[in-house]
Amino acid sequence: MTASLFSEVPAGIPDPILGVTEAFRADAHPGKVNLGVGIYQDALGKIPMLECIKRAASKWAETEDTKTYLPIDGVAPYNTATQELLFGKDSPLLKEKRVATIQSVGGSGALKLAIEFILRFLPETTVYLSDPSWENHRVIFEAAGAKVETYPYYDPKTNGLRAADMLAALRKLKPKSTVLLHACCHNPTGVDLDADTWREIAGICAERDLIPLIDFAYQGFAEGLQADSEPIRMFADKGLTFFVCNSYSKSFSIYRERCGALSVVTGSAKEATNVLSQLKRIVRMIYSSPPSYGAHLISIALTTPELRTLWEKELDEMRSRILDMRKLFASRLADAVPNRDFSFMLKQRGMFSYSGLSVEVVRELRERYHIYALDSGRICVAALNQGNIDLVCGAIASILKEKS
Ligand code: LMR
Repeated sequence: MTASLFSEVPAGIPDPILGVTEAFRADAHPGKVNLGVGIYQDALGKIPMLECIKRAASKWAETEDTKTYLPIDGVAPYNTATQELLFGKDSPLLKEKRVATIQSVGGSGALKLAIEFILRFLPETTVYLSDPSWENHRVIFEAAGAKVETYPYYDPKTNGLRAADMLAALRKLKPKSTVLLHACCHNPTGVDLDADTWREIAGICAERDLIPLIDFAYQGFAEGLQADSEPIRMFADKGLTFFVCNSYSKSFSIYRERCGALSVVTGSAKEATNVLSQLKRIVRMIYSSPPSYGAHLISIALTTPELRTLWEKELDEMRSRILDMRKLFASRLADAVPNRDFSFMLKQRGMFSYSGLSVEVVRELRERYHIYALDSGRICVAALNQGNIDLVCGAIASILKEKS
């Protein structure tokens, strides 16, 4: 028998985030807890189906009358509603038709389309990521052929931002460098930029002719839909041209339907038309046209007034539950480990807390207590609830005490 074609194929390394979920699923322990992946769970530990999505699905079931392909750029009302959500209904950008928006396969798909586009027209660009950033940023950009570097961001000594170092590094970048920024709820640290720092960054991007690439996966999870989009609106007001990759996975709890979009803010309606035509070529080359279901549900939810109101209420509830859990987590840890300061957790925003726990602690949590977090120490506070928080804080406290 001849050797199999695949005998030389080595095993792939597990994904640092989704690989943790695979390990969690394979664990038969009844008391296991998954604080790895960024997925919101409700007070009972369930990943909710939002009511606004259920109702949109009933409406869609009555209206859908064909299974033909979608246009390459996706569901038109979905793209329009996305633009309004990002930039505001009355934004001059939209009146002037300066934004090219294309439906994407989740936020990851939007990042892939953005980098393919950027490399086509600026093959010499280097992409700069915050140190640290979402693990998959580097993977997506390098796989597309981009050079990837980092700029200073997180300070493990203060568990806060290295704002001055970050701004100094950005000031030194070559023109046409691409700078990946997290609009809010920085993944993995939860440490966000304040309005003044955003303003400075916008100024640097304009002066240095940098290309802002804004990842917006958590709109509504920091302060609210409008407040969270302020950095984007400020970049627009400054007259910058830039890219926004947004995701609805978390804000509609619609992860598996893979709904996102790429919006490119251009200098004129003509530029937007040309950019969109190029993005369509890129989509055709990768997957031809996007899937329909999730985008239609979101489009219905965003454009039907009562469903829109319901969505905003459901989103507010998710945000405030996460905040409650964050406060409880920080105070339980402060009680259980009095010699260590966890107050920094209260300044972090969104689903994650960069806990400062070492990889050894994370491994022990997994091996001894069946509690799964990321090796980086990132914990999904949106997966904590009254039923697991004592277990989690107790386990962290015992391990830290043993190590002290
Ligand atoms: C995360 O960071 O956990 C989420 O964005 C899910 C993912 O795809 O990594």
